[in-house]
Amino acid sequence: MCGIVGYLGNKQACDLLIDALKRLEYRGYDSAGIAMWNNGAIETARRKGKVDDLRKAVSSGGFEGTMGLAHTRWATHGIPSERNAHPHTAGDITVVHNGIIENYIEIKERLRKDGHEFLSDTDTEVIPHLVTRYVEEGRSFVDAARAALKELKGSYAVGIIRKKERTLVAAKKESPLIVGVGDDEYFIASDAPAILDRTNRFIFLEDNDVVIFTEGSLVITDMEGNPVKRVVSTVAWTGAMAEKGGYKHFMLKEIFEQPRAIADTLIGRVMEEEGQVEFEDLSPPDLTKVRKIWMVACGTSYHACMIGKHMIEANLRIPVEADIASEFRYRNPILNKEDMLVLVSQSGETADTIAAMKEGKKRGVYTLGVCNVVGSTLARECDGVVFTHAGPEIGVASTKAFTTQISVLYMLMLYMGGKLHKMDRDRIKENIREMRKMPHKVQAILNISKSIEEIAGNFHKTKDFLYLGRGINYPAVQEGALKLKEISYIHAEAYAAGEMKHGPIALIDENLPVVVVSPNDSTYQKTCANIEEVLARRGKVLLFTDHESHEMASRVESVFTLPSTTYELQPLLSVIPLQLLAYYIANLLGTDVDQPRNLAKSVTVE
Ligand code: F6R
Repeated sequence: MCGIVGYLGNKQACDLLIDALKRLEYRGYDSAGIAMWNNGAIETARRKGKVDDLRKAVSSGGFEGTMGLAHTRWATHGIPSERNAHPHTAGDITVVHNGIIENYIEIKERLRKDGHEFLSDTDTEVIPHLVTRYVEEGRSFVDAARAALKELKGSYAVGIIRKKERTLVAAKKESPLIVGVGDDEYFIASDAPAILDRTNRFIFLEDNDVVIFTEGSLVITDMEGNPVKRVVSTVAWTGAMAEKGGYKHFMLKEIFEQPRAIADTLIGRVMEEEGQVEFEDLSPPDLTKVRKIWMVACGTSYHACMIGKHMIEANLRIPVEADIASEFRYRNPILNKEDMLVLVSQSGETADTIAAMKEGKKRGVYTLGVCNVVGSTLARECDGVVFTHAGPEIGVASTKAFTTQISVLYMLMLYMGGKLHKMDRDRIKENIREMRKMPHKVQAILNISKSIEEIAGNFHKTKDFLYLGRGINYPAVQEGALKLKEISYIHAEAYAAGEMKHGPIALIDENLPVVVVSPNDSTYQKTCANIEEVLARRGKVLLFTDHESHEMASRVESVFTLPSTTYELQPLLSVIPLQLLAYYIANLLGTDVDQPRNLAKSVTVE
């Protein structure tokens, strides 16, 4: 999704802004641009393609100044091209924008009648035109900006500057934007990693906030111009956390960070001696009243929800519905006031997940966010929030966010089990003990990642993959297949193993690798029968199991031995080699692993 950065301070801003844009590349984009203000003049450059192309474009000079805006665009209205790239200018007003202006056609037609000429196909371009129009009517720049923003329907995060004055106006509505506070300098950014090397002090803006930056000061108002107070928060993330640290890709680094990320997510929450789980600052409603839990999310986070459903239903016998956020609100879900709505999101900014949260709030349901980004919309607006402590996730394909989400949902199960007296202390203790072994068990898998690299070497030229798993490992294989699709562009489909004979079996021949996750649990024998069916059709089985079945080992293509654990925690382990398999295949194919084509890290539009 689009990325915004802006700066007003005492340093030359051009390189600083482009460096910050580089750090937003992971969000996904197709073009980039910059506008530098320099004593009454604004110099703009835009390029289709990569931020590096933009850097080349500005390297010839002319982009001096200590105030500026920069942008990466992910096309929604109008093809990726230089003329559709931001910033957009009308009169002496220049704007960068994320989000979607829903009433832009109506505004455009109205302005056209008044003689305004538009140069792009974007919805964004109406903003500088509107501001210009209000300035021409005699309003101050800031008043004109507020008046223009009030006319917009839809979502926006914007940065606006004007040739004639050293003032930067920023505002947000349903699209993320944060303010970074340095020493006599200010930043705006869509996401903290963009500016973490400059500051870790942030103001998390709320919808309809308008920020006016001038020399050495910032004022925040509402849309009417009334001052509003927002606190400056210091975050624990550092710039180094958003660097590759010697790994070839962020994704690989993030896969290898999982033992640490899981351990950090558990710290201070699991009390083994007491057989107790506590979440800081969480005050949920009376849990004895909870009759049903909804777990709603998108993509990888949705897979975590499916795993959460298995855990909670198996242990607490409370019905859990795992739902895709983009479907949830449109099917008029039967929500009761006693229900609990758990929204899972790495970014906390996914538009569909936020909309699901709003639907829940509208219906009076308690909303609990499971989120990785402090200060994100989900974290701020849910009734309660439990953070995953994964640290910044930069690779577009989610890895450590997923395993820390599973860790939080597991702790949620134990927390509720204790509060509802559905699990006694000894059982909770035992579960905590096993959970605390997870960082070591994940590390043990990572230590033999070479063997996965070898498997990848035999299959990277394959066109299709089938993934099979049962029970709590069905979402794990869905996640494995999603990872492969996302970063290698190889078609991969995941099925509940028992469903194979109801259709996908028709695909099996000697060219189809079938990835099977089959731990030694109550369904092991059933999955073995599915493996036999694949082998009988000369399919190639890549088996991931903790069962030491030598007989099977000689007949399948490869066996990867997983450490053993309890049913609930199996996916936390089984997904690791699947992440690695996807990564090594993509790496062999030479794809853009961290920024796969067409994908965005944070999907802030519906
Ligand atoms: C897949 C992936 C996406 C996200 C999805 C939800 O690797 O990253 O499927 O999981 O877009 O994003 P969040 O968790 O930020 O709500």
